[in-house]
Amino acid sequence: MTELLSPFDLRGLPLKNRVVMAPMTRGRAGVDRMPNALMAEYYAQRAGAGLIITEATVISPQANGWQNTPGIYSDEQGEAWKQVVDAVHAQGTHIFLQLWHCGRASHSSFQENGELPVAPSAIKLNGEYVHTPIGKQPYETPRALETAEIGQIVEDYRQAAERAKMAGFDGVEIHAANGYLIDQFLQSKTNHRTDKYGGSIENRYRFLKEVLESVLTVWSPNMVGVRLAPNGSFNDMGSPDFRETFLYVAEQLDPYSLAYIHVMDGLGFGFHKLGEPMSLAELRSVWKGPLMGNCGYEQSTAEAAIQEGNADLIAFGRPFISNPDLVDRFANGWPLNPPADMQIWFSFEKEGYTDFPTYQASQSAV
Ligand SMILES: Cc1cc2nc3c(=O)[nH]c(=O)nc-3n(C[C@H](O)[C@H](O)[C@H](O)COP(=O)(O)O)c2cc1C
Repeated sequence: MTELLSPFDLRGLPLKNRVVMAPMTRGRAGVDRMPNALMAEYYAQRAGAGLIITEATVISPQANGWQNTPGIYSDEQGEAWKQVVDAVHAQGTHIFLQLWHCGRASHSSFQENGELPVAPSAIKLNGEYVHTPIGKQPYETPRALETAEIGQIVEDYRQAAERAKMAGFDGVEIHAANGYLIDQFLQSKTNHRTDKYGGSIENRYRFLKEVLESVLTVWSPNMVGVRLAPNGSFNDMGSPDFRETFLYVAEQLDPYSLAYIHVMDGLGFGFHKLGEPMSLAELRSVWKGPLMGNCGYEQSTAEAAIQEGNADLIAFGRPFISNPDLVDRFANGWPLNPPADMQIWFSFEKEGYTDFPTYQASQSAV
């Protein structure tokens, strides 16, 4: 019997199966960062999932750090998201919006008045280059946020959450993974602050706590998820005290009765190699609510994680790019399309976005 394809009650939200579409930036929103009909078509094609988490969506102009990604900081953007939500709801699928602030993983050319990107501390991302509106650029040393500025960013999250609610989303996911602003605050590698937002783990967690509590003034807890990447090295992350940090964070999140925590436990998106990787089973000891695993899962390993009780849901990223009908393929034992060429991940074009064939379409074309 398949558990992966069986329904799941996500704290009151009925999911038709436990396959989640992982958040994936695809850069099709244009320079105005406006959700559009093409994006609605793309998400609707993938609505076999029990839950879709949108691509990371910037909460303010300051949050930008990636070309052509959608925003949710204007009323027009909020309005434009409705076509995506409606297209997914028409397929009987629920959809959460992922809230994003890039922090230091940005560049002055994305920022208003060419200002430096902001971060908890002035520590440059050690990476080759960043893709910007003016081409590939070396990373810059970000500006450390003043204590007094942090409240406005927390407020930006709240306003974004409010717009997401008005757009009809079923919930929001707070992106606290992959070396973006919240992760930069959580981790000792990137947070060297000496104010109440830095130093102890409790202080490093404070920014996430404030963001979460501001979002919870808009959404009820069972409609809010948090994404964490304890093992990841993406965006030059990985801290020696990762285990202590993320056990503490999961433990702190537990009493809120949130929809889920979404943990990138697999190592296929970069591993910092600073110790034994953290497992879902380990997080279960401190987090009692719904647990979503991700990263490098296949149907069989996802099934095993759920059957063994380590996960309730599994998010699939790359497999959904080239297999819009991923769940049908799982259900019928149909083979998967080959992985998509990385060139098309962020090509800004329709090609390589909505043109992957379903299994049945590919068969009738033969
Ligand atoms: C093209 C692409 C874009 C991504 N964009 C995001 C994103 O916007 N937000 C996020 O949290 N993770 C993002 N990720 C990470 C995925 O959500 C997922 O964690 C990763 O692909 C590993 O899962 P997989 O092995 O099933 O692909 C992205 C990954 C890919 C390949």
